[in-house]
Amino acid sequence: MEIRFAKASDIDRFMDLVRLVKDDFPGLETEESLKEHRDTVLHFIENRSAICALEDGGTAGVLLFSAEDGELCFLAVHPLFRRRRIAEKMFSLMISQMDVDKDIKITTFREGDPKGISARAFYKKLGFSEGELFVEFGYPAQKLILKRK
Ligand SMILES: CC(C)(COP(=O)(O)OP(=O)(O)OC[C@H]1O[C@@H](n2cnc3c(N)ncnc32)[C@H](O)[C@@H]1OP(=O)(O)O)[C@@H](O)C(=O)NCCC(=O)NCCS
Repeated sequence: MEIRFAKASDIDRFMDLVRLVKDDFPGLETEESLKEHRDTVLHFIENRSAICALEDGGTAGVLLFSAEDGELCFLAVHPLFRRRRIAEKMFSLMISQMDVDKDIKITTFREGDPKGISARAFYKKLGFSEGELFVEFGYPAQKLILKRK
């Protein structure tokens, strides 16, 4: 397993995993939104803010972040590769790029949403706490925050 910053040449295999898990992500329902997401990923790659986990030429995990905003923007691990600490390792690489005293926020599913079970358990394990409830892409969401000060 190789965990590293994604390169522009990784874009197709990066998007293969996004397509596989797209039903877990409000806002990625249509071909058009996936095309837009591809452009967004390329932008993150240019900014050295896209991380991928690669196994046998395929993509086992992807993560997008903004060091400037202190935000984890997108995270997914291939269903066949879950519970192998891949998300944890990608998160470690991300955090090494962020200011040590800057809080980290993420937007995820609310408590009680079956789609959010793995994500919420993962973020809670890392020490994230509850933030504001809101609606994004017409879907109930919540901010979680990792306090670092
Ligand atoms: C959330 C997700 C990225 C976690 O990836 P992962 O590589 O399986 O996570 P890790 O193996 O690094 O998990 C680390 C710890 O988080 C917790 N955890 C992760 N998934 C869990 C689950 N399904 N149930 C309970 N705890 C879980 C555990 O404490 C785990 O440690 P353990 O396996 O030793 O008990 C993955 O399940 C996923 O892609 N889910 C669907 C997409 C999604 O929800 N993305 C986030 C949207 S905001």
